[in-house]
Amino acid sequence: MDKIVIRGGQKLKGAVKIGGAKNAVLPIMAACLLARGESVVTNVPGLRDVVTMKSVLERLGVRASLNDHTLRIDTAAMDGFEAPYDLVRTMRASIYVLGPLLASHGKAKVSLPGGCAWGPRPVDLHIRAMQELGAQIEIEHGYIIASSSGLKGRPIKFSIASVGATANTMMAAATAEGKTQIINAAKEPEIVALAEFINKMGGAVTGAGTDTIEIEGVKSLRPTEFATIPDRIETGTYMIAGAITAGKIEIKDCCPQHVDSLSMVLRQAGVGVECSGGTISIKGRRDIASVDVLTSPYPGFPTDLQAQYMALMSVARGNSIISETIFKDRFTHVPELRRLGADIKIEGNTAHVGYVKRLSGAPVMATDLRASAALVLAGLVADGETHISRVYHIDRGYEGIESKLGGLGALIERVPE
Ligand code: UD1
Repeated sequence: MDKIVIRGGQKLKGAVKIGGAKNAVLPIMAACLLARGESVVTNVPGLRDVVTMKSVLERLGVRASLNDHTLRIDTAAMDGFEAPYDLVRTMRASIYVLGPLLASHGKAKVSLPGGCAWGPRPVDLHIRAMQELGAQIEIEHGYIIASSSGLKGRPIKFSIASVGATANTMMAAATAEGKTQIINAAKEPEIVALAEFINKMGGAVTGAGTDTIEIEGVKSLRPTEFATIPDRIETGTYMIAGAITAGKIEIKDCCPQHVDSLSMVLRQAGVGVECSGGTISIKGRRDIASVDVLTSPYPGFPTDLQAQYMALMSVARGNSIISETIFKDRFTHVPELRRLGADIKIEGNTAHVGYVKRLSGAPVMATDLRASAALVLAGLVADGETHISRVYHIDRGYEGIESKLGGLGALIERVPE
């Protein structure tokens, strides 16, 4: 196992390029199952989660290759319908094959993902939506066993605007008979990208990006080509990297509009944020002000940037309150940030972040994907060396983080543990 070693204190400068969005690619890979033949997806990040989803598809008999950020998925020889526990437990997004398998095969056997490091994370909304579309579902031996003799479109109202359940329902409904309406749909850019992909395959999805999505079922879909949208969480992480180091950096090939909520908060904290086309320029400063944040669904402040933002607030000049409303226990980064000297107290779903003069490097452990990004960011400003172990978490969502940060002047390296 590798670890990342960072020697803090460098102001970042220069430019960094953002890759394709992991959370857009994963459902799009599953949506390829809806058509027979080869689909091609470009601007795909070389990430562990993408490789895991590729393995999930390969277990279904799909031929898939990922070369130079181009993913080819050929479903011509597809003959399986099971997403096994050994893969689903390593990546919850494997559940995205449920809807497409039901739509294309009329059956699916998908392992229940179980809990995750920050809480129970149920999949009840996915299951209920499939049932509402007419699927029979049994839970047996830890698996969702689903079957259908033809899905039928209908209105589905979600109690929570879930990204995953919205995506799964869109995919299942794409070839269902009649019209499906998703009420209280997730509005995230990744949902819009999936709708565009399904439409490029010949589907009829409207309203993606609003809270009501309509899917007119079509008889069949055809393979297509698609370029992935930029990763807004990677973008936000580098914006915070510029801010926390009092650096001056340009973030290229991104979509500034997708990170508006973070830009607004950073500006309030005194950070310079300028957007032009697909580039964001960040000008950090030493005396960052404290700004409270509440995570919420898009276009609100993303839960996937909460940990990284907490690293920034750990070195801000004052006290801040960070409330997590999406995954209420998502604070596994807190004990590790405390090891670096941060003053953070948790009360329910709220973190109270106090002022400390400086952070100091220490050995810490990555506990999940975004938590590990927070530790990298804290390490960039901590005195001395920070050693981050279990970096496989970071490889799930950040391609070449040490070369990208190194290119900006950070002293960072990956070494065998
Ligand atoms: C996706 C993202 C994840 C991000 C999250 C919220 C992917 C692969 N992952 O996860 O990075 O943090 O959106 O932006 O895109 N819920 C239920 N029942 C369900 C489904 C969800 O109660 O069946 C709840 C969840 O526990 C959570 C809320 O709904 O409290 C939102 O979760 P959801 O949007 O579904 O997150 P994911 O799709 O799992």
